[in-house]
Amino acid sequence: METGKFITVEGIEGVGKSSNVEHLAKAIEARGYAVLTTREPGGTPMAERIRDLLLHHGDEPMPDIAELLLMFAARSLHVNNVIAPALASGTWVVCDRFVDASRAYQGGGRGLPLEDIDQLASLVLGDLKPDVTILLDAPVEIGMSRADKRGAPDRIESERAAFFERVRACYLSLAASDPDRFVIVDATADINTVRDKIESIVAVIDSNKTD
Ligand code: TMP
Repeated sequence: METGKFITVEGIEGVGKSSNVEHLAKAIEARGYAVLTTREPGGTPMAERIRDLLLHHGDEPMPDIAELLLMFAARSLHVNNVIAPALASGTWVVCDRFVDASRAYQGGGRGLPLEDIDQLASLVLGDLKPDVTILLDAPVEIGMSRADKRGAPDRIESERAAFFERVRACYLSLAASDPDRFVIVDATADINTVRDKIESIVAVIDSNKTD
């Protein structure tokens, strides 16, 4: 059976990931494919419990390495129990954040070595990697002002602008180093322009299908 395509959507807070993930899924469905939308950290009942641990303001400090390991523990559950079976059954998977978020936030933002993160990625994911990663990019002040309107910030959203500048810079450098996988979309463009771009990305993936 033909395996599904795996598309991840990345970006700093407030770049419109959720609404664009929805639009992406509709564009895939419109081409006649089954599609599953999911998110990280989370995507399975146990991984969603890990998400709560990660995002709630806890009553003890969270070491950076514990944050990284919890991201990958949740990811292991998500990949094994949801993503890999869906892809194997021919369903396309659209995931709101994936391993590049660990590179950008725990690597770029927190300063953990990218080589360590890549080692964890190979341990947890084996050969699995996204076919296409859409990076929704916007300046930090624009993202943060949109995210502020959503209410009380969670533990990671409470970081300062300098943290998100490092996250954004890391995303852009990941995209530059893997241009075959990444597509950068200007998230400051008007909503219809962004949607048209997303539809054109789906059209290209569909036309490139070889397996
Ligand atoms: P969300 O706000 O997009 O749902 O993501 C939750 C937060 O988790 C967001 O601040 C980014 C962060 N995150 C990481 O720091 N590392 C990761 O690997 C993932 C998947 C998310």
